[in-house]
Amino acid sequence: MVKKIGVLTSGGDSPGMNAAIRAVVRSAQSYGITVYGIYDGYRGLVENRMFEMGRYSVSETLGKGGTILGSARLPEFKQKEVREKAVENLKAEGIEALVVIGGDGSYRGALELTRMGINCIGLPGTIDNDIASTEFTIGFITALNTIVDAVDKLRDTSSSHKRCSVVEVMGNRCGDLAIWAGICTGAEIVVTPQTGFDEDDVINQLNYFHDVRKKNHAIVIISEKMTDVEAFAKKISKYTGFDGRATVLGHVQRGGGPSPFDRVLASRLADRAVQLLNDNIGGQCVGMIDNKVVNIPFEEALDKPRSSRKELYSLFERLV
Ligand code: F6P
Repeated sequence: MVKKIGVLTSGGDSPGMNAAIRAVVRSAQSYGITVYGIYDGYRGLVENRMFEMGRYSVSETLGKGGTILGSARLPEFKQKEVREKAVENLKAEGIEALVVIGGDGSYRGALELTRMGINCIGLPGTIDNDIASTEFTIGFITALNTIVDAVDKLRDTSSSHKRCSVVEVMGNRCGDLAIWAGICTGAEIVVTPQTGFDEDDVINQLNYFHDVRKKNHAIVIISEKMTDVEAFAKKISKYTGFDGRATVLGHVQRGGGPSPFDRVLASRLADRAVQLLNDNIGGQCVGMIDNKVVNIPFEEALDKPRSSRKELYSLFERLV
């Protein structure tokens, strides 16, 4: 019987991480398991910064953005000696298993820890929706709401000034935030790693919207790391009938209280994580497919190709 487990949040924070921590703590209590919170992801584990969490340590956290445990990225965790220190700290405290809330980089660390004798379960905590083993990551829908709210506002002012707004969104090489936002806001153009970026082609399309479709403004949503949006907006002013303006939404996309969907998702997935650890099962990550909570081995999840979202891209094209 598992008596003590740890929980940590790792990588970029995402709205709903607190809801997941809360559900881990409360669900574990129902099995008689004690939970230790670990500060700042794997860094806190290696530096032995952990504390016992009671029912009330997660009171009023369900609707809070960010993560009460803090988060960090620790590239050194790839080194065996660093992980050995983490395992030593866990064993000294009698912690037998861990819930790791983060992205696929965090899953890799969790897989290695499982191989070293600490059962780990991964929960998908990232706004990027870039984890193949779940249809939704915790925080994606909240970040999407933030983007949609911003783009709706940008459309108001773009329309008033006959401008083209180029909006850069996050995604870490995954185009989901961009394409979903494009569909939600009726953007004219979406550029993601999936579509690729052909500057001349986008300029031609904008000229078509301006000259043929007689649009007085346009919205281009573009995934981060595709191009320099400030420079591109200047080219739009030069080569199209629109006045170009760039907006980088940045880290505002990661903040804010989680949407109801993310609160429920986080709670459902975290509850499964605790059930698995209670059954002495580790080395798995939990996700949601077809509105059902599922768990699959880390190896399988990390090998799984991400959906190309063909249906969403062709839907977008038909509706423009
Ligand atoms: O993975 C989440 C994410 O917000 C990505 O979308 C983005 O590329 C990255 O983290 C930004 O990281 P940082 O907070 O280190 O700037």
